[in-house]
Amino acid sequence: MSQIPSAGHTAVSVPAAVRGDPVAGNGGARVPKLQAAGLGMTFQRRADTVTVLRGLDFEVHEGEFVSIVGPSGCGKSTILNLAAGLLTPSAGRLAYDGKGVPQPNTRVGYVTQKDNLLPWRSVRKNISVALEIRKRPRDEIKERTAELVDLVGLQGFENAYPAQLSGGMRKRVTLARTLAYRPDMILADEPFGALDAQLRLVLQEELLRIWQHEKNTIVFITHDITEAIALSDRVLVFSKRPARVKVDCPIDLPRPRDLARVRTDPAFDRLYDRLWTELAEDIEAGDAL
Ligand SMILES: Nc1ncnc2c1ncn2[C@@H]1O[C@H](COP(=O)(O)OP(=O)(O)OP(=O)(O)O)[C@@H](O)[C@H]1O
Ligand SMILES: [Mg+2]
Repeated sequence: MSQIPSAGHTAVSVPAAVRGDPVAGNGGARVPKLQAAGLGMTFQRRADTVTVLRGLDFEVHEGEFVSIVGPSGCGKSTILNLAAGLLTPSAGRLAYDGKGVPQPNTRVGYVTQKDNLLPWRSVRKNISVALEIRKRPRDEIKERTAELVDLVGLQGFENAYPAQLSGGMRKRVTLARTLAYRPDMILADEPFGALDAQLRLVLQEELLRIWQHEKNTIVFITHDITEAIALSDRVLVFSKRPARVKVDCPIDLPRPRDLARVRTDPAFDRLYDRLWTELAEDIEAGDAL
């Protein structure tokens, strides 16, 4: 039995109660799901020191879909690596549910920029790996894996190995693997970048549908402003390195959104212009995309 409602519609309804509601936290205070306060990250490369993040502040609340856009090399993937507990901040604090990010942070699902599929395992076995690690019952693993193969449209490729797949198919396996264990928060680093336009739209719709159904929180990195606006509750524009939040832009487009038509909404152009102006300033200033 599928726990995810079947696809087949383009518009995705998100109940208002799910979005942006105060979290029942300490004394009713709204504890952000993810909160950067004065966050700094410095890398040492031989004799060089690169400060990627300095004094960065932002918040992501439970149930939000937040996109981050910014020039190449400004530190977007670094933030997700910090949120996944794969790196430790050099300065300031990054909190998850009000506490320091666990290392690793097993409550998040991370679709990394570069897929890191296990080359010796089939598609099916790559998708099921996180469930196996969590020692879930064999029947559940089988059922959930089959459901996810369908979800990302990889029927017929269950037994193929990563080397036999296209770049887009590998991305879909990575997405399915991340969704398998229903993480609290999904960190997605340009998950649809390599896909053709049609498949991209299908998977964007699936992601919104899953987000609505699972009521999780998504931090989504993209170079595509259109994609960021279409999907998100808020878009953060980052400056060039060291990154700071230049704009924190609420996306006030109504939901459900028909992703194929969202750009025909008159408010879309206004949002696009605002975000592009901010982003272009920093691209022109040096760190090209
Ligand atoms: N582990 C590391 N060691 C040394 N330098 C690193 C490391 N990880 C990232 N960097 C450097 O930090 C900077 C930011 O990298 P990051 O991958 O976060 O950028 P990005 O914003 O995701 O870029 P893109 O849009 O191209 O993916 C880059 O200059 C990169 O070389
Ligand atoms: Mg990156």
